[in-house]
Amino acid sequence: MKILVINGPNLNLLGTRENDIYGTMTLDDINASIEKLAKELNVEVTISQSNHEGEIVDLIHNSKDYAALVINPAAYTHTSVAIRDAISAVDIPAIEIHISNIYKREEFRHKSLISSVAHGQISGFGPESYLLGLRAAVTIANAKKGHS
Ligand code: DQA
Repeated sequence: MKILVINGPNLNLLGTRENDIYGTMTLDDINASIEKLAKELNVEVTISQSNHEGEIVDLIHNSKDYAALVINPAAYTHTSVAIRDAISAVDIPAIEIHISNIYKREEFRHKSLISSVAHGQISGFGPESYLLGLRAAVTIANAKKGHS
């Protein structure tokens, strides 16, 4: 089983960016922990990051070979109809994840355009959100496989 992980804008700066909110792990550290869990769960992961909305849309369009998508759309969570529509257009369950609890932060972060097309959302568990997201993605994909 293959799972696609997509990271949105500014997440390449993790480790140096607003450490009080996002912690000190770099994206490479987080990716290593995702790869480690993927091995334990016996699934393949492809991990990507882009600062560009259209590139993220293209990644979603090209996700047909994947059983599920784990996505941290970052700031695009709150603004991107294009990413929302791309997720809606492909027949792949998406798990939306956030490092911080977006509902505890500024009001503009309380609205996610993605959550209505995601299978579910995980928000506020620090880098662990990615691991919870991967576990959720595998569970959902297995359930979907069982029903097809
Ligand atoms: C984020 C939350 C977003 O509001 C913010 O723009 C990010 C990161 C998170 O993982 O907590 O860049 O998605």
